[in-house]
Amino acid sequence: MESSRIFIVGSGVVGAATGEGFLAAGHKVTFIDVSAPRIAELAERGLDVRSELDLSGEPESFIFLTLPTPNDGHRYDLTAFTAGTAAVGKALATATAKHTVVVRSTVPPGTTEGLVKSTLEENSKLVAGNGFALGSNPEFLRAVSAAEDFANPWMTIVASRDPETVERLRALLSPFGGELRTFTNPAEAEFVKSAHNIYNATKISFWNEMWLVAQKIGVDLDPIAATVARSAEGSINPEYGIRGGAPYGGVCLPKDTQGFLGYADTVGVEMPLLSAVVEVNDRLAEIVGHEADVIGHATHDQLREAATHAVVPAAAGEE
Ligand SMILES: NC(=O)c1ccc[n+]([C@@H]2O[C@H](COP(=O)([O-])OP(=O)(O)OC[C@H]3O[C@@H](n4cnc5c(N)ncnc54)[C@H](O)[C@@H]3O)[C@@H](O)[C@H]2O)c1
Repeated sequence: MESSRIFIVGSGVVGAATGEGFLAAGHKVTFIDVSAPRIAELAERGLDVRSELDLSGEPESFIFLTLPTPNDGHRYDLTAFTAGTAAVGKALATATAKHTVVVRSTVPPGTTEGLVKSTLEENSKLVAGNGFALGSNPEFLRAVSAAEDFANPWMTIVASRDPETVERLRALLSPFGGELRTFTNPAEAEFVKSAHNIYNATKISFWNEMWLVAQKIGVDLDPIAATVARSAEGSINPEYGIRGGAPYGGVCLPKDTQGFLGYADTVGVEMPLLSAVVEVNDRLAEIVGHEADVIGHATHDQLREAATHAVVPAAAGEE
C-alpha cells in the first residue's frame, strides 16, 4: 500500500485514534492541537505533534478535521470547529500541492459544503475542487474502544462531489476492512452519522421507558427486552421500518401503541416517547395521506436465521 501524508487537526479521542491507526498502517502522520497539555501528552507517546498546521513544502496530503463539535442546548457549538477550519484555510494559502480536507467530526448535515467550504475558501483564497479537494468521512468509533474501532471498522462512509476524492479516500480507508459506502453529497454522509447516533439513543430511551413500567409493576425487564430483541422484526430485520414517508398501519401497531399508553397511565407511568411515536405516526399519516403496510417484510427463514444469530455483547452505547 502506498504511504500517504496525513495531518490530524484536533488530536483528542477521535484524532489520536485516527492518526495512530494511520501510523500503524504505514502512513506519515502529523498531529495538530491547540491544547498545550494535549500536545505534551502526545509528544510523550512519541508522536509528531505541533501547535500549528504548516503545509509549506508538504506533498499532497489528507487533512482530517477531528475538531470538537459540542452542543450548547439545542444547537451545535461550532466555534472551535470553525477556528480550526480557518487555520487550515490559512495553511492552504501557503501550500504548493493540492491537499484534501476531510471532515471527520460529527457535524450537522450541510456543514462540509457550507461552513467548511466557505471558511477554507475565505482563508486560503483558493476555490474548492480546484485549489484543494473536500470530502466527508464521519467517524463511528466508540470512546471506550477508539483505537480498536478505528483499526477494525464495520462501516466506513466516504462522500465528496469529486469522484477522484472519493476514490482516493476509498484507497486510503478500504485496507482497514468492513463495509465501505460512498455518497456524492457530503450532507448525506453527515446525516448518516447523525441518524446513527440518534437511532442508538432512541433505542436506549425506548427500553428505559419500558423499564420504568416494568419496575412499577414488579417484573424484571432484562429477560423481556432480551426476548423482544430476538422476536421483534424491527430488531432482527435491518430492512424493516426504514422507509421514510411510510407510517405504520394495519391493526396491531396502532392498537397496541395506543392501548399501552392508557395501560401505563393506569399504573402511573408517563410514556413521553411512546406518546411521541403515536403523534409522529398520526402526523405522517396526515401528510402522506395513507398508511403503509408493514415495511420490508422478511421471510420466515430469514427471521429464524436472524433470531438465532450469534448475540453480539451489549455495547455501552457511547459514541
Ligand atoms: N469521542 C467519540 O467517541 C466520538 C466518536 C465519533 C465521533 N466523534 C466526533 O469527533 C469529533 C471530535 O471528538 P473528540 O471526542 O475527539 O473530541 P475531543 O474533545 O477529545 O478532542 C478535540 C481536540 O481538538 C482540540 N482542538 C480544539 N480546538 C482546536 C483548534 N482550533 N485547532 C486544533 N485543535 C483544536 C482540542 O484541544 C482537543 O484535543 C466531534 O465532532 C465528535 O462528535 C466523537
